Amino acid sequence: MRRVVFNQKGGVGKSTITCNLAAISAHQGKRTLVVDLDPQGNSTQYLLGISGENLETTLADFFDQTLNFKLNPKKIEEFIVASPFPNLDVMPSHPGLEDLQGKLESRYKIYKLRDALTELADDYDVIYIDTPPALNFYTRSALIAADSCLIPFDCDEFSRRALYSLMENVQEIQADHNRDLSIEGIVVNQFQARAGLPQKVVQELIDEGLPVLAPYLSASVKIKESHEQSRPMIHLDPKHKLAQEYVALHDRLARTYGA
Ligand SMILES: Nc1ncnc2c1ncn2[C@@H]1O[C@H](COP(=O)(O)OP(=O)(O)O)[C@@H](O)[C@H]1O
Ligand SMILES: [Mg+2]
Repeated sequence: MRRVVFNQKGGVGKSTITCNLAAISAHQGKRTLVVDLDPQGNSTQYLLGISGENLETTLADFFDQTLNFKLNPKKIEEFIVASPFPNLDVMPSHPGLEDLQGKLESRYKIYKLRDALTELADDYDVIYIDTPPALNFYTRSALIAADSCLIPFDCDEFSRRALYSLMENVQEIQADHNRDLSIEGIVVNQFQARAGLPQKVVQELIDEGLPVLAPYLSASVKIKESHEQSRPMIHLDPKHKLAQEYVALHDRLARTYGA
């Protein structure tokens, strides 16, 4: 199954959630792939560390290849890199993705990612797709390629209001391109149980009937260390409260999709 993590806003936790959930899937023995569509490459960096820098083949080459007809194109498998963790692979990002966007858009390459990931259906139990903080060619490609969508939410009042247009955008892509896409739910991130405002904002979402997932993910300084060491929480400190919350969220999602 293919799960996209999407929110037009930056800094809400997309990359952190993608990598931590993917690391748990892999740790539980599922063949797992992370596709990093953000030119910033935070997920690539988080999972591959310095070995993710200066890679010869990245997603930029994959998309570039769709623009330049070749007699012997590289197979999709050739754009995949193994992470240091068993069962966990990465399709790495590259800053060059930024410059390719205009051409890809104007030449209708929006289904190329879906086609490529469909070829990998037998190789992976679950594919996580991390997206840039925008509604652009890459996020649309991802929403078209995915079976389900997770929306991280940072408990901010401004973000709450932005959620409605975000959901509409997803529903439009659903209607136009991907009837099978399901909105799995909103992931509450950096939740501070002792502060009043986050509680109120999340309660409003629930009262309005939005699909808020439990458990909520708490804020922890440990995440900084996790990124710095390129070790997702399940490997850095599996007994940590936040690591346990990621596991509980992962297992909750796996109840629906088996992964
Ligand atoms: N649960 C958390 N607790 C504390 N910091 C977090 C948590 N989740 C994410 N962060 C931090 O918030 C920042 C944004 O997270 P990131 O995953 O990069 O968001 P996005 O991909 O949406 O831009 C990063 O510095 C990250 O380390
Ligand atoms: Mg990110």
